[in-house]
Amino acid sequence: MARPDGITDLSHIRAKTPLYKDKSVPAEIRVDNLLGLMTLDEKIMQLNQYTLGRNNNANNVGEEVVNIPAEIGSLIYFDTDPALRNAMQRRAMEESRLGIPVIFGYDAIHGFRTVYPISLAQACSWNPALVRKACSVSARESRMSGVDWTFSPMIDVARDPRWGRVAEGYGEDPYLNAVYCAASVKGYQGKSLSDSTTVAACLKHYVGYGASEAGRDYVYTEISPQTLWDTYLPPYEAGVKAGAATLMSSFNDISGVPGSANRHTMTDILKNKWKHDGFIVSDWGAIEQLKNQGLAATKKEAAMRALNAGLEMDMMSHAYDRHLAELVAEGKVSEATIDDAVRRVLRVKMRLGLFDNPYTPDVPDRFLRPADLKIASELAAESMVLLKNDSTLTLPLRNVRRIAVIGPLADNGKDLLGNWLGHGQAEDVVTLRQGIVSEFGKDSEIRYAEGCALDGHDRSGFKTALETARWADVVVLCLGESLRWSGENASRSSIALPAFQEQLAEEISRLGKPVVLVLANGRPLELNRLEPLANAILEIWQPGIRGGEAMAGILSGRINPSGKLAITFPWSTGQIPVYYNRRKSGRGHQGFYQDITSEPMYPFGHGLSYTTFEYGEPTASKTEFRRNEKIKVSVPVTNTGDMEGAETVLWFISDPYCSITRPVRELKHFEKRSLKPGETAVMVFNIDPWRDLSYVDSDGKRFLETGEYNVIVNGMKIRLNLTE
Ligand code: BGC
Repeated sequence: MARPDGITDLSHIRAKTPLYKDKSVPAEIRVDNLLGLMTLDEKIMQLNQYTLGRNNNANNVGEEVVNIPAEIGSLIYFDTDPALRNAMQRRAMEESRLGIPVIFGYDAIHGFRTVYPISLAQACSWNPALVRKACSVSARESRMSGVDWTFSPMIDVARDPRWGRVAEGYGEDPYLNAVYCAASVKGYQGKSLSDSTTVAACLKHYVGYGASEAGRDYVYTEISPQTLWDTYLPPYEAGVKAGAATLMSSFNDISGVPGSANRHTMTDILKNKWKHDGFIVSDWGAIEQLKNQGLAATKKEAAMRALNAGLEMDMMSHAYDRHLAELVAEGKVSEATIDDAVRRVLRVKMRLGLFDNPYTPDVPDRFLRPADLKIASELAAESMVLLKNDSTLTLPLRNVRRIAVIGPLADNGKDLLGNWLGHGQAEDVVTLRQGIVSEFGKDSEIRYAEGCALDGHDRSGFKTALETARWADVVVLCLGESLRWSGENASRSSIALPAFQEQLAEEISRLGKPVVLVLANGRPLELNRLEPLANAILEIWQPGIRGGEAMAGILSGRINPSGKLAITFPWSTGQIPVYYNRRKSGRGHQGFYQDITSEPMYPFGHGLSYTTFEYGEPTASKTEFRRNEKIKVSVPVTNTGDMEGAETVLWFISDPYCSITRPVRELKHFEKRSLKPGETAVMVFNIDPWRDLSYVDSDGKRFLETGEYNVIVNGMKIRLNLTE
């Protein structure tokens, strides 16, 4: 006889094997069955995350977990070897009453051991397909090392480069963050979470963390409901649609209600509106921090507020393990709320296949495989942005006999890895100097001088650096930032490089030699003093383990640069915030400063190539169309130079008049294509009015207004009219 849940085979009941252990039973039924067998204490333990192994997150020295309970829900796993993880998993499987597997998480942000460029750099590649590949390598290395779940992607739209965490996201644009978010979720999660090479993704930090006031970390954010919908939520919605298993709640207070106790964002929007059925983990200690933020007087109250708002897992606050049972007894948290939270955690564990394959096999040679290094090299090359190449055509360097490689970043592997370097090792990195030696060493003589440290006052290296520069035909000056100047709790009051590095550039430039300035950094920099000192400027960001190879390939012309900025470079720190998709002003311009230009140094989308591209007239399949009609706009692009190169066509929409004012323009589509000299490609943007021309109001309701819209491509405009 069939049971109400559709199960006809009752053999496990006869055999007394609980349903949740049976692989052939549908996951949701297994979860329900298990939930029905759990005590309140067992349920509560599923909602906690502690750490296992060496903690290398210096900002968060959590409580030491001496004896991890076998019933623990999750652990952050800091090792690269599955052995310790498997030992802990064995405890969970064999020593806990129900044998519920632990889910092991870790921050593999831009690679696990094969370290890719930082996410901000990746965004400048305009190549989500390549980013997806990099994420799948990261997933493979992670899962095979015992990590089931990565705390990535970080999709906090950020417009204040003083904030150290701009390095971790995909720049200033919501649409671009959304596209990369979907690509990385697919890269991490693959076709099935239960594969031995995929990991669960975690969208973070939900939500609005990028709006941190003045670029300071952990602070208040002022976000109107309209801005929440326009700017901060779209990447999350895209990630949920792409199937992201989990999210991480943010540290920031969102206009009076911190992200980690915000029922509106976590329950109304994420669970009710977007129907997300996975779970949310808090950021590290974020529940405890509700006390500092003035939302809760005690840790117990913080636990109550967080769980009732929809936050399922407590990362390292010890708020849920200590207080939930009491809160249930007092009726302040319902058992139904606990059950819903536990069900979500178990569901993700079930999807990961942890109940059926709890242990990580030890696979040798899982790191730094040649194919994975190739992706590192390609992604680094595509991420680099040629900011300047003056009329003397400094780059590419041809027939140079003597090259001076100077600067604190020239032979420095560690800082090229960037922050959140996972298990990356400085010795895996091809430094800039090494890259130049292998690229040019056959035909040119190369000399190196450090010149100065990244910061400080010691000018003793200047002399040798100047002598080396004087000897050379060209100087490759490698300046930039330490990896410690980016990431969490790494805000800077100025985005200029230390004066000390600028002085080295000034003295070298006085020698009158051609200077190629190579910048390795985790944020946009203030370049107004450095820019006139260099003939060419190449922004390489923190490019990961193959950065030196990619950079040298661009200098030699073996690689034609194709990166474009995903974030604006202000002219000076005083302009911040400056971003392309600002709302319009009352005077039709962006407002003037008396003392400096109001234009940024390099706008969003800026990036030069060694070839030239010419755009023809853009055309539309129709300029007058109805709400339910799709139309096609296209533009021919020709490579008019003599070198093959890739061009990214950026399509923007502007809506001149709307009942809720719109930004001056908004990116809606892009396409990158490689073109041979003389080749023309017709680039297309298929406009779906509901998807591309509608907006969301402050209540989250999407609307589409009739009237005029402009499509903008390469500064050219097509006027469209949407009728009823
Ligand atoms: C960071 C998160 C990170 C977590 C776990 C926190 O301090 O804000 O981005 O995922 O630690 O390491």
